[in-house]
Amino acid sequence: MSDALLRADGLVKRFGAVTASDALSLEIRPGEIHALIGPNGAGKTTAIAQLSGEMHPDAGAVFFGGRDVTRLGADARARAGLARSFQVTSLFRGFTAEDNVAMAIQAHQGHSFRFWDNARRDASLREPARSVLERVGLAGRADILAANLAHGEQRQLELAMALATDPKLLLLDEPMAGLGHDESLRMVDLLAGLKGQLAILLVEHDMDVVFSLADRITVLVYGKVIASGVPEDIRADAAVRDAYLGGDA
Ligand SMILES: Nc1ncnc2c1ncn2[C@@H]1O[C@H](COP(=O)(O)OP(=O)(O)OP(=O)(O)O)[C@@H](O)[C@H]1O
Ligand SMILES: [Mg+2]
Repeated sequence: MSDALLRADGLVKRFGAVTASDALSLEIRPGEIHALIGPNGAGKTTAIAQLSGEMHPDAGAVFFGGRDVTRLGADARARAGLARSFQVTSLFRGFTAEDNVAMAIQAHQGHSFRFWDNARRDASLREPARSVLERVGLAGRADILAANLAHGEQRQLELAMALATDPKLLLLDEPMAGLGHDESLRMVDLLAGLKGQLAILLVEHDMDVVFSLADRITVLVYGKVIASGVPEDIRADAAVRDAYLGGDA
């Protein structure tokens, strides 16, 4: 038996002539930061969508915590502890950072965001919402409207909303994209601080970030896994150097 938290087994996803996932298999262990890297168009986002349940594979299976979740949708997988980060576009801009997290907690408890007014008034959500904001370094910004947060802080809030559901595995597709230098560093620190608390599958193009954060790395090229292992092995892998990292890696 494997000790994997998540196991993808032979995922295939085709878009017309393009095979975006080509018998893709992958294992994520509890608590690890697992980076998924590869050139543009390699199929990283498509892989994440199949793991989160937003997209269904043409073939293959996804197991989470030993259970076959292949046929479950994204909401059911999130309730089981497999979460994908919210996007900035899904923040409630007219609500405070704390309200946003309170709503995410409430939604996870099975209520709809429609009842935001209850979330705002529900004192039992305040404490957990504050503690999640603290985890992402936004404790001092709890009362600021989401719209008035800096872009980097909005990304931190996205992360807080994902963490509010207390996931065992968080899927992050380029969490540093569009951030300035200092904001990126803050996000890297934040992810480093979460290490061991939950597993993270991290899609990221910046190899300095990948090699500083990842416990293990899987390399995807044209939808196929060409290597998977610890950073030292990936760095030394001839096929990875040829296909992706280049000679100076
Ligand atoms: N909905 C779709 N319809 C048609 N083709 C798609 C669709 N989604 C992805 N593709 C194609 O599948 C391949 C993989 O795309 P994907 O977005 O998963 O790559 P990626 O590794 O995330 O790339 P990037 O690093 O640029 O984000 C690409 O050739 C892309 O054009
Ligand atoms: Mg992508």
